[in-house]
Amino acid sequence: MNSNKVIKITSPLNNAVIGEVPALSKAEVDQVIKQTKQASRQWAQTSLYERGEYLYKVADLLIKYNDELVNLLMKEVGKDRKSAKSEVLRTADLIRYTIETAKNIYGQAIPADIVEGAKKGRFAITSREPMGVVLAISPFNYPINLAISKIAPALMGGNTVVFKPATQGSLCGTFLKRLFNKAGLPDHVVSIVTGKGSEIGDYVVTHPDINFINFTGSTAIGKHIAKQVEMIPLLMELGGKDAAIVLEDADLELSASQIISGAFSYSGQRCTAIKRVLVLEDVADELISKMMNHIKKLKIGNPLDEENLDVVPLIDNSSADFVWGLIEDAKEKGATLLYGGKRDANLIQPTLFDFVTLDMRIAWEEPFGPVLPIIRVKSLEEAIEVANASEYGLQSSVFTVNLNKAFEVAKKLEVGTVQINNRTERGPDHLPFLGIKNSGVGVQGIAYSIESMTHIKSTVINL
Ligand code: NAP
Ligand code: G3H
Repeated sequence: MNSNKVIKITSPLNNAVIGEVPALSKAEVDQVIKQTKQASRQWAQTSLYERGEYLYKVADLLIKYNDELVNLLMKEVGKDRKSAKSEVLRTADLIRYTIETAKNIYGQAIPADIVEGAKKGRFAITSREPMGVVLAISPFNYPINLAISKIAPALMGGNTVVFKPATQGSLCGTFLKRLFNKAGLPDHVVSIVTGKGSEIGDYVVTHPDINFINFTGSTAIGKHIAKQVEMIPLLMELGGKDAAIVLEDADLELSASQIISGAFSYSGQRCTAIKRVLVLEDVADELISKMMNHIKKLKIGNPLDEENLDVVPLIDNSSADFVWGLIEDAKEKGATLLYGGKRDANLIQPTLFDFVTLDMRIAWEEPFGPVLPIIRVKSLEEAIEVANASEYGLQSSVFTVNLNKAFEVAKKLEVGTVQINNRTERGPDHLPFLGIKNSGVGVQGIAYSIESMTHIKSTVINL
């Protein structure tokens, strides 16, 4: 692209400028989308085998350039080395499994003569067809994995892809695009558009050559996109307020360790982070004492200085300001600060509040930062009621040794996924992953993603 406007990308770890990306104009975006559209007919004609061969190369390249990419992930989105490495390796696996899965999705032959009067020898033969051009919009927090989790299944489904990375994450996105080039993918089968969502976003999502939108990001932007598009299928993974419900008979040591790692890894900048604890009064004190043991062991710092950290600087100062606002509000309204509550620029200490009440913002809002509220409840019914009163419906955890009880609670929770005796989390990547209510539309997870980004074609044969 010839764009002469650029966006400088600074690191959340030290504010250093680490690179720049073009800020495409609408005319340039239009050109990119048109080229991607033109490439779609030919790509749709390639065999599954051929698509898979290109993608296997991308998986191999991710491993080959692992070190470079890990360093970039650390600098651009502030991950510690271990998490960055895990994101890259997990993504290479995701690509391979996507290829294998796509090769094992078959159509059906459905006989017509199962209803009275229907002609014998009449069959509907179904196949999966591409949608055309998929717009993949990714968030900052998994710039590689949440890009590939859209791009790989879209490509295996025979679509071409316009990829719009989060601006903070677009150096990683550009790196990824280079790997597709190195893998020899035909021109314009995967295209990238960089530029601020606030400037080019509306233009991209409403472009007439976009046939499917696969978006991961905040609920506010997801809703904004959904309001603008007409007759374009959407797959959306949005915000969350995942609750960990701890019953009286729970293994409290397990619950405490899962809750603390679930809430604070990558400073809580995960859609699936545990974002509130609903604990039965009788076991609250014991659970909290165990949680305190775990929270004190969290490693906090700057990934440029130390390895294997849990709590790292947040993506930017305005995100830290938002989290800080939630902390101040909880303090003002009388929550008991058990731990943390300190801040140095965008590095916020892991913060734990007890006696959080339902009038506090932290009871309902998604911090996307390292602060965890504990809400004590009198009964299981109250826990379920509070859990379901959230606008969000991504995941919940239930901690109990009674499996029957766990299933009973799981059935009543209004979320896409319930984790029994585990922290809330997405992986492994082939499991269904979805949010209901304000947490999303549609289902991801390798097979589900391929199915979402293709449509059934039925050809009826009359023998
Ligand atoms: P975000 O601010 O909503 O941004 C997400 C993406 O949308 C970015 O690429 C952004 O580009 C783009 N965008 C912004 N305005 C747009 C517009 N008008 N039209 C089209 N695209 C637009 O989210 P984030 O801060 O990157 O990520 C954090 C949020 O994502 C949290 O709420 C988290 O829960 C959610 N999330 C959900 C999941 C899930 O699977 N459920 C996974 C990860 C994150 P710019 O960066 O250029 O603005
Ligand atoms: O941020 C949202 C991601 O989809 C969470 O993935 O549970 O594997 O960290 P994760």
